[in-house]
Amino acid sequence: MMRCRLRSRVLPELLLSTIFLSLIPALISGAVVSLDSIKIFRTHEWLPSKPSVYFQCKGENRTVLPDVKEKHVIYTFKGEESWQPLTELRDMKCKRCGFYEKDTIKSDDVFDEWELCASDFMRSDGIYIHFKEKEVNATFLCPECLSLGTASDHSSAPMNRAREMHWALIVAMSALISVVLIVGFVTAYKFWRKRKREQDQARFLKLFEEGDDDLEDELGIGPLTHIV
Ligand SMILES: *[C@@H]1O[C@H](CO)[C@@H](O)[C@H](O)[C@H]1NC(C)=O
Ligand SMILES: *[C@@H]1O[C@H](CO)[C@@H](O)[C@H](O)[C@H]1NC(C)=O
Repeated sequence: MMRCRLRSRVLPELLLSTIFLSLIPALISGAVVSLDSIKIFRTHEWLPSKPSVYFQCKGENRTVLPDVKEKHVIYTFKGEESWQPLTELRDMKCKRCGFYEKDTIKSDDVFDEWELCASDFMRSDGIYIHFKEKEVNATFLCPECLSLGTASDHSSAPMNRAREMHWALIVAMSALISVVLIVGFVTAYKFWRKRKREQDQARFLKLFEEGDDDLEDELGIGPLTHIV
């Protein structure tokens, strides 16, 4: 019966800490950015071959856009294509990204290269349009960026504040989990001690029933008459 009581106290605490632990990855993981549509206004190749257009953020793998072959044609995407999403944005940190065209002879040509930021996704539909004259017009989709971006404008101070809040939340949750675990352990220890004391008392009483000689041996003291 005692063990049942112990379990019923520890179990809700374990459940709570599991819930909080499972929340942390969701906080840390990024907002997914996918390509909604693209139109190129030119190609950079001398030869009359089809261009190979790709998107790349600094330090990440390139994403080749296999369908984009013609100028002045709008290509629209569902966001579920095999090469999607393009990238992920974490916190309020921008990424240096661009559209490029593979060049067979010299280094690759640039349609445009710019800072891709979560705060650029200001529209309620989570769409951001990036346009560069005579080069490219692309629309990006990032519904999760909206929650990252609404708390701030383009200045850096609110961005820092959002990042600090993000970390404060993680620290607070870690502290809460620690407290819950410590309370759990202390409760378990208290129960263990209480139970042990009760067992000792029971043994002590039993010794009394069994006789004075045994008690003297057990306690390692002289004849019982000295302490009674
Ligand atoms: C980049 O590509 C390599 C090889 O194709 C792959 O092993 C790696 O996981 C990729 N990295 C990212 C961030 O997608
Ligand atoms: C860029 O493309 C979007 C979506 O197709 C369109 O709404 C917008 O007017 C275009 N912008 C320019 C400057 O062509």
